[in-house]
Amino acid sequence: MTAKSHSNHKIASGRGRKRTSVLVELGDRSYSIDIGVDWLETIGRRITDRLQAERIALITVPSVARRYAPSLTRGLKSSGTRVSRIVVPDGDATKNLRQLGKLYDRFLDQGLDRHCAVVTLGGGVVGDLGGFAAATYLRGIPFAQVPTTVLAMVDASIGGKTGVNLKQGKNLVGAFHQPAGVYIDTATLRTLPRRQRAAGAAELIKAAAIWDADFFDWLEPRIEAFLDLDPKVVLPALERACAIKAEVVERDEREGGLRRFLNFGLTLAHTIETHAGYRGILHGEAVSIGMVFAAERSEALGFSPAGTRERLESLLDRAGLPTRIPNRPRRAYLSAMAVDKKRQGETIHFVVLKGIGAAGTTSLRPSEILPPGWKA
Ligand SMILES: NC(=O)c1ccc[n+]([C@@H]2O[C@H](COP(=O)([O-])OP(=O)(O)OC[C@H]3O[C@@H](n4cnc5c(N)ncnc54)[C@H](O)[C@@H]3O)[C@@H](O)[C@H]2O)c1
Repeated sequence: MTAKSHSNHKIASGRGRKRTSVLVELGDRSYSIDIGVDWLETIGRRITDRLQAERIALITVPSVARRYAPSLTRGLKSSGTRVSRIVVPDGDATKNLRQLGKLYDRFLDQGLDRHCAVVTLGGGVVGDLGGFAAATYLRGIPFAQVPTTVLAMVDASIGGKTGVNLKQGKNLVGAFHQPAGVYIDTATLRTLPRRQRAAGAAELIKAAAIWDADFFDWLEPRIEAFLDLDPKVVLPALERACAIKAEVVERDEREGGLRRFLNFGLTLAHTIETHAGYRGILHGEAVSIGMVFAAERSEALGFSPAGTRERLESLLDRAGLPTRIPNRPRRAYLSAMAVDKKRQGETIHFVVLKGIGAAGTTSLRPSEILPPGWKA
């Protein structure tokens, strides 16, 4: 399966624009991703209008709750909706069945019924956990996402994948449950540590690399400005990356084909995260290394022209992301690949680049992905 670059989309300048929105068209489950700046209270009002819930459980994490929950809550309450705040501990280790159980307990204690809804405020962890609680409580209640990390804005909050980790691996239990809306306030990124911003920027670069050569060209001279949160760059960059994710999800909601392109770089990234025990390396950093590896293999296997890997690596490097594979023996990587969730029988759907802006998948055995003699 292959795709040509979808570069016919013009990237509008962010100069003078304060708001925009991107539609995710999924029939009666369609929703919009509203992007703006310094507008959390308005977001709250919009969410109440959209959800029409009697009561809202606002699920968030401590660092974000302190800073952003008060304005959002003022908006959510503005037309009389009751709001209860549930603060879960920070970190991916929180995205588990124990926390999920605690959320159900809190929902029941607060008497949440089918006329209630969930709003998640935070990064991908709280979005996945809160989204999964909403997907399963009373067989599903509506929810809205207010993502506050770059990664959650352009990736995790869009597309309806929700879930939790098991001790055996990440995201092994989950459900597809589309949000009623995604609401982004770019001002929240000001408090996001630069390393987290860069890790999220890996997802922007991934979207451009697999889908849109013009967006890649546009990002190349602007990546530093994005990380510095220049409003002329942040709004259009998020807008385009969200539109790419929306387009991929619209065409393939349940990951039968095209949506697999989003796994570009993930085969190796997952093995790196497994070895690191999910500590010390951020997901976006592992994805950065995995993308460079996949681009190198794409060239070696004859899928992409020479120079593709170099261009990708140089952009990731300028974003301050790691690109070198941790030095471990080949067999360590092979055994971690043996438990790849994307595996089908003996082979893995390996995402290759056809060049900058176009991806494809090919079925390879782990020993073809990492041929004999391969060294990190
Ligand atoms: N559902 C999907 O389609 C999908 C896609 C990609 C990733 N994910 C999941 O997303 C998770 C990673 O998400 P993430 O990178 O957002 O991590 P995260 O949710 O852990 O957030 C990163 C850190 O930033 C802090 N934070 C968040 N917003 C902040 C802000 N505005 N200011 C200051 N600090 C802030 C958080 O408290 C946390 O410490 C993983 O669990 C991954 O599996 C899901």
